[in-house]
Amino acid sequence: MEFKEGLTFDDVLLVPKYSDITSRSQTNLSTKLSRNISINIPFVSANMDTVTESSMAMAMARAGGIGIIHRFLSIQEQANEVLKVKRSGSVIIENPYSISSEKSIQDALDYAEDKEISGLLVVDSSSKLVGIITERDLLFADTNDHIQNVMTKDVVTAKPGVTLDEAKEILHKHRIEKLPIVDDSEIIKGLITSKDIINNADYPNASKDKKGRPLVGAAVGVKGNFLERSESLLESGADVLVVDIAHGHSENALNAVRNIKKAFPDCELIAGNVATAQGAEDLIKAGVDAVKVGVGSGSICITRVITGSGVPQLTAVMDCAKIGKDYGIPIISDGGTRTSGDATKALAAGASSVMIGSMLGGTDESPGTVLTKNGKRFKVYRGMASLAASLGRKSKETGSFSLDDDLNDYVAEGVEAMVPYKGTVTDILKQLTGGIRSGLSYCGAHTISQMQDNAEFIKMSGAGFAESQPHDVSLM
Ligand code: XMP
Repeated sequence: MEFKEGLTFDDVLLVPKYSDITSRSQTNLSTKLSRNISINIPFVSANMDTVTESSMAMAMARAGGIGIIHRFLSIQEQANEVLKVKRSGSVIIENPYSISSEKSIQDALDYAEDKEISGLLVVDSSSKLVGIITERDLLFADTNDHIQNVMTKDVVTAKPGVTLDEAKEILHKHRIEKLPIVDDSEIIKGLITSKDIINNADYPNASKDKKGRPLVGAAVGVKGNFLERSESLLESGADVLVVDIAHGHSENALNAVRNIKKAFPDCELIAGNVATAQGAEDLIKAGVDAVKVGVGSGSICITRVITGSGVPQLTAVMDCAKIGKDYGIPIISDGGTRTSGDATKALAAGASSVMIGSMLGGTDESPGTVLTKNGKRFKVYRGMASLAASLGRKSKETGSFSLDDDLNDYVAEGVEAMVPYKGTVTDILKQLTGGIRSGLSYCGAHTISQMQDNAEFIKMSGAGFAESQPHDVSLM
């Protein structure tokens, strides 16, 4: 039997090349996420329950990347996370939330809290706009009172087709923050908020759909109600679905891909994970628009320990990228990225983007609370195939979890861990993208695809690796 060599990030370096770049700003990090979707930075947040829900996805899109909402939520909860992202940051909200004037203040408070918004449009029984109710109106109001007694009735509105500049002028003139758009019959057609206008100006690099709304993806499984879930996510505005299964080179995954594409031919679909050229090719032939690559490379993965299976990540990416290139299908390197250097190597090896988990776990935008241990702050980050994640799912499905359940039945392929609290995603992505821009420059490339054409890897010894780390100094 012949042994194939498998290499990963720490086995290689990129050989420096002549560069005419005089400033990192001359580099361009835009790339393809999938056949028909482009993003402005090559980062995708992992579809894990300790990484991506709406708040992470919004931050990723604002920075120019994209987040994939994890699937370990009810269909409605997951669709709601997608909706929250879609409604954030778009200058015109197409279907703003509204409430009947006959409801109580308590109803308005509950509704606003559920939708995580600060104000509601108020409608009468024939859906005509009759008022607006904001945080200020709700403050100290009697919660049993009817909305119509508390709402602001003289609402400043605009007509459909209003331009952004005109909207800004109206908002300024009337010193208001929300501008409903209504037709001649006072039926609501949209909403413009000053917060969204400011957000839009603050994030010029944001990745957006054709309507100017933030891009967002969502994961689905391969069994049970995955078609129903797909439908609901697409209806909520998900730009891309990700078929999420540990062993993506399997009949289950291929069937799911074919079935989703058959039911929703226009759906942009990513699937994975695979680690071989054959795996990538089979998914591409089944119809995917991008292939996610990585088996056992993730920081919390124990797949290789438990099953003995996997391929070192750099080799996996290189093998799959060759096939991806033949078919014109982008490859996403998923798992094992610890530094901007790793991400640069994955991109140079042919990945169009990089999915990251642990680097984003522990941020303000990742789900979960900050814990303190020995004076240091942490957040939980766990593998989706860990025992803890599995128990979480089980208690969600059954409504409870009993310690009598046989824990030995579950063979975990992931661990539960803690990662240091790291502040905001924006700061992490600034460091990562800055590192990649420098990496492009060392390869003499202005763009990711130029780097892929120019890149020359050199294998290094253990001594070369040791030399690559800070050495012979005491770190402060
Ligand atoms: P990083 O290294 O960025 O990896 O933390 C994130 C990726 O790890 C994968 N993942 C798992 N792999 N068992 C595994 O073998 C697990 O429990 C598990 N949970 C997540 C996944 O591909 C993710 O994007």
